[in-house]
Amino acid sequence: MAPAPHQGFRHVMDEQDNGRVGTKAAGPGQDANKETKEMLEIRNLHVELEEEGKEILKGVDLSLPGGAVHAIMGPNGSGKSTLSYVLAGREGYAVTKGSITLDGTDILELEPEERAARGLFLAFQYPVEIPGVSNMTFLRTAVNAQRKLRGEPELSAADFLKLVREKAKALKIDAEMLKRPVNMGFSGGEKKRNEILQMAVLEPRLCVLDETDSGLDVDAMKLVAEGVNALRSPERSFLVITHYQRLLNHITPDMVHIMADGRIIRTGGPELALEVENNGYAGLLEEVA
Ligand SMILES: Nc1ncnc2c1ncn2[C@@H]1O[C@H](COP(=O)(O)OP(=O)(O)O)[C@@H](O)[C@H]1O
Ligand SMILES: [Mg+2]
Repeated sequence: MAPAPHQGFRHVMDEQDNGRVGTKAAGPGQDANKETKEMLEIRNLHVELEEEGKEILKGVDLSLPGGAVHAIMGPNGSGKSTLSYVLAGREGYAVTKGSITLDGTDILELEPEERAARGLFLAFQYPVEIPGVSNMTFLRTAVNAQRKLRGEPELSAADFLKLVREKAKALKIDAEMLKRPVNMGFSGGEKKRNEILQMAVLEPRLCVLDETDSGLDVDAMKLVAEGVNALRSPERSFLVITHYQRLLNHITPDMVHIMADGRIIRTGGPELALEVENNGYAGLLEEVA
């Protein structure tokens, strides 16, 4: 079977605002006077699987201010990973309605790498293994590709080495791991820590962590949480997607959103996560049924 052509991200929406600019990098604060002060604004987002035309996200609304940590919780199959993929621009999903803006810019118009250059980072639920590419080469290529897209000079080999060693040390990542092919033969905990290393090196503006805690023992989870907490800053926001409450004992969110059947059904403070921990999702689901 011939491989499917790369289709990029299909954005099926009424194209009213043809005059959209959206190519200038929007740094922190630069667009503060635009229509929204939120860093990430998701409005009435409807998403279908391209192949099957099945609607997965059915009107998601979410606002994430700069410097904030919001958690998204919800039962399996509620659409959490789909939301993270659509944010990153993964192919195979069609946005049929709604919008996503990052620092006031419509990102649905942008290719995944352009979104990344604007500071969007997705830590995968299942990190991929890349045989034949060393972790170091991968990181350096990613950093320099982003710098290039932003019109910044590339980092020299020496500067990059210094940067990555520093970040790896802070995350208690063995230098040996940097030489190995990306995620090959890494334990579950090492893969997740490697995702956090990528995040630390790329210094994103918006970090989306999709079940970074899944499959981790308590010690590995604490290391991941420490890594995230070390990266918290007024200029950086996090969407922490998790099925369980336990990660949120270590990463305290400002807000918690509960997702079910493709919608946010409740938003509250950190106590909402505890409510889920104690009562499960059943009660919340009944409320909206
Ligand atoms: N590529 C796909 N093909 C078929 N079904 C999919 C695909 N991606 C997601 N789904 C379906 O969409 C729903 C939401 O999935 P997902 O976003 O992974 O939820 P969550 O991360 O909350 O567990 C599920 O019913 C899942 O089976
Ligand atoms: Mg998921």
